[in-house]
Amino acid sequence: MRKIILDCDPGMDDSMAIVMAVKAEELDVLAVTTVNGNYPVDVTSKNARKVLELLGRTEIPVARGMAAPMIRKSPSDPFTHGEDGQAEANLPEPVMKLADLDAVDLIIELVKANPGEVTLIATGPMSNLAMAMVKAPEIKDMIPEIIAISGAFGLNDYAFLNATGDTPQSEWNVYVDPEAAKIVYESGVPLVALGLDVATHFDVNISDAEVKKLEESGKKEADFLANAIHFVNKRGFEAYCAVIDCMAVAYAIDPTLVETMEAHVGVETKDGLTLGMTVIDRRHHFVWEHLPLVKVGCKADCARFLQLLLELVLK
Ligand code: BDR
Ligand code: CA
Repeated sequence: MRKIILDCDPGMDDSMAIVMAVKAEELDVLAVTTVNGNYPVDVTSKNARKVLELLGRTEIPVARGMAAPMIRKSPSDPFTHGEDGQAEANLPEPVMKLADLDAVDLIIELVKANPGEVTLIATGPMSNLAMAMVKAPEIKDMIPEIIAISGAFGLNDYAFLNATGDTPQSEWNVYVDPEAAKIVYESGVPLVALGLDVATHFDVNISDAEVKKLEESGKKEADFLANAIHFVNKRGFEAYCAVIDCMAVAYAIDPTLVETMEAHVGVETKDGLTLGMTVIDRRHHFVWEHLPLVKVGCKADCARFLQLLLELVLK
């Protein structure tokens, strides 16, 4: 079993990512850590616990993390996950307590206790991860891989047509805390950046028949997903919006689901038009080799991804 920490900002799609991770036999979820992003960290921390309670998996610790980006104010999201941040599923208030340690310290502790073994999955802004690396730089050599929903690389139309940040070509998680993303991208820890190119592809689509199957299954997590799809559809968005973050968990379970390519990538931290852009240098000549080498998602097997997602949700 692959040991993971899921660092997230639930968020309806983060909530589904938690469902997938917890139900996957291939993964051992050591902790769910929460961060400011889609919503303030108190809300994301509550939502993570609501999902674990729905799944009856309250033994998995939830640690509350950074309440703001490293040096900036948190922007407000032009896209809404609803009043509760979970597509208005209105799950019961959680009873389980937060972990004693905060997210940054829990990440440091778990990585040190399991050197070389803990994969970090990041489906929110990278504030917790970056802060952990700043506070305990020695952990960088102990993390085998970070798999993140991060960036928009312009490898196909979806990257920019479905850009989620509040600049024309940025992805939300990088846009919220670009300084944190820069630290993580430049950390030397192997990074798989699954950007909007793959995670918001219109082939990530769940048919009406499948939604009906979810609704008829009698499973609370399936009902949550069906509700989230209706929620985004009502607002004029495609179903992919309800499951963007699930692709990072799917990749952790089965890396053959997404083709990646190694490329030099820089994170833009200057304000204005390009803030939060993940600039990929794919030139044949004169490439900026000082930019970190990252594995960038370039093509997803969307059909197999959806099959895995639905299998796990209905399990
Ligand atoms: C990211 O933005 C958030 O709204 C989603 O949860 C996802 O992590 C995609 O850009
Ligand atoms: Ca997210």
